Amino acid sequence: MTAATPPFPALPPAARVGDPVSAVDTPALLLELDAFERNLDRMQAAADAAGVVLRPHAKAHKCPDISLLQVQRGAVGICCQKISEAYPFVAAGIQDVLISNEPVGPAKAALAAELARHCRLSICVDHASQIADLAAACAAAGSRIELLVEINIGQNRCGVADAPAVLALIERIQAHPEQLRFKGLQAYLGSIQHLRSHEERRAAAAGASERTGAVAKALQAAGVHCEVITGGGSGTVEFDLANGVYTEVQPGSYIGMDMDYGRNEFAGSLRFEHALFLASTLMSQGNGERLVLDAGLKSLAVDSGLPLVWGPDGERLDLVYTSANDEHGILQAQGPDTRRPQLGEQVWLVPGHCDPTFNLHDELVAVRQGRVEALWPIAARGLSR
Ligand SMILES: Cc1ncc(COP(=O)(O)O)c(C=O)c1O
Repeated sequence: MTAATPPFPALPPAARVGDPVSAVDTPALLLELDAFERNLDRMQAAADAAGVVLRPHAKAHKCPDISLLQVQRGAVGICCQKISEAYPFVAAGIQDVLISNEPVGPAKAALAAELARHCRLSICVDHASQIADLAAACAAAGSRIELLVEINIGQNRCGVADAPAVLALIERIQAHPEQLRFKGLQAYLGSIQHLRSHEERRAAAAGASERTGAVAKALQAAGVHCEVITGGGSGTVEFDLANGVYTEVQPGSYIGMDMDYGRNEFAGSLRFEHALFLASTLMSQGNGERLVLDAGLKSLAVDSGLPLVWGPDGERLDLVYTSANDEHGILQAQGPDTRRPQLGEQVWLVPGHCDPTFNLHDELVAVRQGRVEALWPIAARGLSR
């Protein structure tokens, strides 16, 4: 008789609540809760003071626990970029979702119409065929969706050009009063979010608001009121709140502030802190100048640049992350006096771009004062339909 095969073990968790952060198995995506909560509080207070609705974008993090905390503080709901992305958020209790993007085709319309049976759902459109598909799907599902017409204010991505084009789509929307309702405009300009100088960003945001306001005014003259004008991101939100055009803002990255956003000059009072880190470990001492971490392209997005090197005590280290291989990250010491991390020591990295970095991880390790406080699923990871 052969010995019974032992049951195959489940993979142990990378972190346990209560553990010191130094015990977290790496690479692991960390959220430093004190800084994160200050970011949430600052944004909500600024929106409240301006009398503008905050609808934070969940594409930045894909983690329902984060959105629930934003809504607890006063956010009206969330934005998602994709319909499938919204499903875990609604399942977790988020009741008001804007899909800040255009779905095309009956399959996506059906996904949206089903979702609309479980939450208040609004969606962007910029073509009559999207409206027809959504109307048919809502009729079949017995649901109703509110529509925002996206206008192109310089992003040159989606969106119609002007007020007459908006009016033509409103007419199509109004042909389906049981299923659809016109809610307003989306006007988003991502290309100005990372203009580094405060003044340059202020001027660009003013131009974006002006173009948006001109379309809203032309609609008003034609007898159409926009209940909602939504847009903006973490780079322009302080201006979007003050410009008097947007009724709603949709910043996402401010929750954790990646390296790219950290390079913006924030001269106003609305500033955010790095709260998102990738914990990695020194896995090889290389040649002493070149050091090797266990985190590369499979745990960090580098499309906006390589990460900053941070110590677990919250200080910037005199080490530069010079290249990312699939599973390795190469560090260079900057001088003979630079303290080299020891083999097995944790090194924290500030990711270049938060959105695609979150999308590489199943779980967010929430830490406070050096201890693991919670483990939050990044439940919408990979949901890009
Ligand atoms: C339509 C839309 N709104 C808001 C945002 C949020 O921007 P950020 O994460 O830069 O704050 C984005 C980001 O790409 C977006 O595409």
